[in-house]
Amino acid sequence: MNLLVSAVLGYLLGSIPFAVIVSRAFRLADPRSFGSGNPGATNVLRSGSKAAALLTLIGDAAKGWLAMFIAQRVGAGETAIAVAGLAAFLGHVFPFTLGFKGGKGVATALGVLLGFSGVLAGITAGIWIAVVIFTRYSSLAALAAAAAAPALTWWLLGRSEVIAAVALMCAVLIYRHKSNIRKLVAGTESRIGGRKRSVE
Ligand code: G3P
Repeated sequence: MNLLVSAVLGYLLGSIPFAVIVSRAFRLADPRSFGSGNPGATNVLRSGSKAAALLTLIGDAAKGWLAMFIAQRVGAGETAIAVAGLAAFLGHVFPFTLGFKGGKGVATALGVLLGFSGVLAGITAGIWIAVVIFTRYSSLAALAAAAAAPALTWWLLGRSEVIAAVALMCAVLIYRHKSNIRKLVAGTESRIGGRKRSVE
């Protein structure tokens, strides 16, 4: 499998907008129309449906992992597998299905980390969970996990193409949280458990 095929496969899978699909299936409002306006699990949770949020999280994570799994099963090399994961992440963030305005990439990044290593994904998810438990800020938890993931990748896996893919993914993820960072600094970021009906 060459790099272009890996990239196209990953991008197409990453472009599946689970937040919008699941919300429609549950007859909830489109997540782009309320709260942060982000088509992601955290914002779907603000609709009040934990099940819809969980399904969104699972779907968005699964597509990152699946892109890498398929690449691996067809005998792609390590670089092509990493490209498939990175492309899935970018597909989620810039999906053609939503006019290239997608999510912030947290769940899909977790799926990609799982594609690289279960231990890497487990520790990174553990950081996310710990920060959420202590602060109830989903965005702060994502930022902390994204800040740690490249160093964890270097420590656990040490392969340069994987470190580069994870570092690029985390840089995009942090950039996509710029509005959250502004709100965290201003003290106006919403915590998990809060509901907001209009776009902030
Ligand atoms: O998963 C995205 C999360 O980190 C922030 O989401 O909706 O609060 O901007 P949101």
